[in-house]
Amino acid sequence: MADGYHGEIPAGWPGSMWLEGKTIIHMPKGQERPSHMPRGPAKNTGSGFLNPAMAPARTRSVMLLADVLENEWLIKEGKSIRVFDALCSTGVRIRRWRNEVPGELQNRLRITANDIDDFALKWAKVSHYDHPPSVIIEHSVESDRYGKTPDGVFENGILFQQLDARVALSDASYQWIDIDPFGSPVSFLDSAIQSLARTGVLEVTATDTAALTGSSLSSQKRRYGSKGIVDLYAHDDAVRTLLSLIATTAARHDKSMSPILALFDGHHVRVSVILTTSKEKASDMHSNIGWRVRSDDIPYRFKKHPDEKELERSSGPMWIGPLWNHEITQRMTEERAIELCQPSKEDLEKAKSAGLDWDDADLEYATRELRRSVRHISKAADLMSREHLLLNLDYLPKWSGTSGAPKMDILIESLIEKGYCAARAPDLEPVFVTDASFEEVIKTVQELSLNSSK
Ligand SMILES: C[S@@+](CC[C@H](N)C(=O)[O-])C[C@H]1O[C@@H](n2cnc3c(N)ncnc32)[C@H](O)[C@@H]1O
Repeated sequence: MADGYHGEIPAGWPGSMWLEGKTIIHMPKGQERPSHMPRGPAKNTGSGFLNPAMAPARTRSVMLLADVLENEWLIKEGKSIRVFDALCSTGVRIRRWRNEVPGELQNRLRITANDIDDFALKWAKVSHYDHPPSVIIEHSVESDRYGKTPDGVFENGILFQQLDARVALSDASYQWIDIDPFGSPVSFLDSAIQSLARTGVLEVTATDTAALTGSSLSSQKRRYGSKGIVDLYAHDDAVRTLLSLIATTAARHDKSMSPILALFDGHHVRVSVILTTSKEKASDMHSNIGWRVRSDDIPYRFKKHPDEKELERSSGPMWIGPLWNHEITQRMTEERAIELCQPSKEDLEKAKSAGLDWDDADLEYATRELRRSVRHISKAADLMSREHLLLNLDYLPKWSGTSGAPKMDILIESLIEKGYCAARAPDLEPVFVTDASFEEVIKTVQELSLNSSK
């Protein structure tokens, strides 16, 4: 293993082998074999720990990067894009970018990987060396924003750096930045936003869900400047609270924010946004910031400012604008996830001959997991990108006075038959979105209940 490798081999290498997407990964000693459907945070085994529950977020990141190169919504006419994984740990995301974004696009990617942790970075380098991408990367390392050659090791198309992410961000300008810390991303936002090019993409993970949902009110107030209510809207509120902080931070740097995809995924929030330098649009940011006000006649409505009587039943301030970009997210289909990230027979054979202990069932589970990464996204793309009502199926009987809830598919079909749009939203909870009014949804639920009892 790692024959001919000139860097230092980290203790415990090669650990145990796994496949995420098409990419062979090595998990440090002490970390359990992942299950194929990990949901919550796995036990953090320390330096170099890989969280298998983040695999779907990494799959979506591969898809978005492939999408931007193919559809050129950020860069024009075959130009390259500078991408930075600020907290790359053992390098799974950057290696997946290098292996799974289609080969013909690879030479347009300029990837820099950074982590402060010596062990994790060594693990990333040796993994990349041992399992190089199939495409030969021809470009050389680019100068930083001051015209200097950046510090770090350039290895087959990836520049590895070991810096405090905030220092690394101040040295260079990128068009795509990924921030995936343990816990809150708050301390990295300012430097990431300042490092972005005039138009750039910022992808942010936040695992401090207690603060984002409001179950820890003091941390929420301190970090996000908002007040939550832990009810059926807590997950949606968490996503909107993080978006609001990014939008307000961006506005301080004369940038406006437009979301691409924003999700609550089990134990973390993940948002991808486009930031564009524009003083005018940045000044208009407040038109998308407001409060979710719960009331008796309707589960909630968004309002710029709740009045005093409403304050107790209001959460915010938060982003009340659209959550996704329709054009981009409608392309995030299960078929596309499989096309980009499903290992071929040859990939699998190669991995097995390198030591992967997988059978047919493992492959089947991995395929299911890939599909799950984007399930419901393309169908919900339209509604999530404009004003919509978000409802939880389990609460419909209470709201409509029926003895049970209709099946999700039947309710969605009935609303569509009536001329509305409706779609299941990607969430572990049975939630859906629609442009029908709350009264219309309730009427439809009551009609369906009446018909089923006949
Ligand atoms: C959640 S992990 C990143 C996981 C990785 N993105 C992935 O998908 O596997 C967070 C990483 O941030 C690194 N880190 C923490 N503070 C840092 C800082 N100030 N600068 C650079 N890296 C930092 C840690 O060493 C750790 O590897």
